[in-house]
Amino acid sequence: MTTILGFSGSAREASFNTRILRALPALAPDGVEVVPFDVAHIPFYNQDLEADLPSSIVDLRSAVAAADGIVVASPEYNHSYSALAKNVIDWASRPFAQGPILGKKAMIIVAGPGPGGGAHCIEELGKLFGLLGCQVVSSVGVAAVHEKISADSDTVTDTALAAQLTAALAAF
Ligand SMILES: Cc1cc2nc3c(=O)[nH]c(=O)nc-3n(C[C@H](O)[C@H](O)[C@H](O)COP(=O)(O)O)c2cc1C
Repeated sequence: MTTILGFSGSAREASFNTRILRALPALAPDGVEVVPFDVAHIPFYNQDLEADLPSSIVDLRSAVAAADGIVVASPEYNHSYSALAKNVIDWASRPFAQGPILGKKAMIIVAGPGPGGGAHCIEELGKLFGLLGCQVVSSVGVAAVHEKISADSDTVTDTALAAQLTAALAAF
């Protein structure tokens, strides 16, 4: 079984990106398991905390280390990734040159209601993962996401998007 750790780059209660992330376990192909990881409680990166790591960071690093890959579903903010997504990636990139995220396979999802499909954010996340030695196996940009997921459950209703997400997970 290939285990993929997933986190959302949005803390918003009704976040489209979080809801797509939560839909992934049901869309995963045979042999791939997606485990969403809640990052809402992760503190803002502060090197002072490295001396006595909060348990949330210990848990995050252990989960990333144990996973075969990661999937990040981030909103596009001002043509880049969210600060929340960057914060989690920063924590997982430490200690220097030994962070558990280094070299992991990665999948990118960027969803928003606008027409752009998160292309700028996908590009910026690609650069960041490249710096960390991560191999981006697939990217899914979702435009007009409000028309493609259920209003009252974590379900992808657009069949083309559902198939695209399954294929993207199969790339791990
Ligand atoms: C600070 C900020 C900047 C944004 N910048 C962009 C942007 O550059 N491109 C875009 O398509 N949408 C942009 N948006 C709209 C977000 O894509 C939209 O709010 C999205 O629903 C956020 O993701 P979420 O639903 O997972 O919270 C921006 C939103 C905020 C709050």
